[in-house]
Amino acid sequence: MTGEPPRAAPPALQPLYAVPDGFAPLYEEIADCPACDLARGRSRTVPGSGPAPCDLMFIGEGPGEREDELGLPFVGRSGQFLDELLVGIGRSRADVYVTNVVKCRPPGNRDPLPAEIEACGAFLGRQIAQVNPRVIATLGRFSMAPWFPGQRISQIHGRPIEAGGRTIVPMYHPAAALRDGSLRAVMKADFAQIPDLLRGNA
Ligand code: URA
Repeated sequence: MTGEPPRAAPPALQPLYAVPDGFAPLYEEIADCPACDLARGRSRTVPGSGPAPCDLMFIGEGPGEREDELGLPFVGRSGQFLDELLVGIGRSRADVYVTNVVKCRPPGNRDPLPAEIEACGAFLGRQIAQVNPRVIATLGRFSMAPWFPGQRISQIHGRPIEAGGRTIVPMYHPAAALRDGSLRAVMKADFAQIPDLLRGNA
């Protein structure tokens, strides 16, 4: 225990964007969530964007600074690269559902802690059920972990599995390609499989 008294979560800010159809109750619950310490540092919760149902869902790690300001996922530099990858497969943000493992920004963009991922897990489960995607692309090591426990992204990226009636395909996180330019082509090649996966050809 430190001597610091626990701070209450700040009141939820109103979303700056239209909440997708059918998501109002869940997004309100996320906005009021006090379940872990990330709630104390957030400006806005970042529940997710895109329509439901939707055949294609992306799961990232957690909001960064820009996402925390706007309440939308992947609106910073990683998001620009995600948009470029989507254009490459003929899709756009309007027709994919995008969310993160944790819905509040980890301070200083540190990795989310196991307890924070656990606290947010039920929200992610409900989003998957409601979006009901044919294909889930996980972005980075945190979102792939439930389907690929103990595995390394460098060894399994782009290799889909079937689970619970969906195709799950692990991808590098776009931020990894911003740090290491050689991963841009790798990510483009992994994304290029998505149209086939959506047609049921795993
Ligand atoms: N990185 C993520 O994992 N998610 C975001 O929303 C933004 C950056």
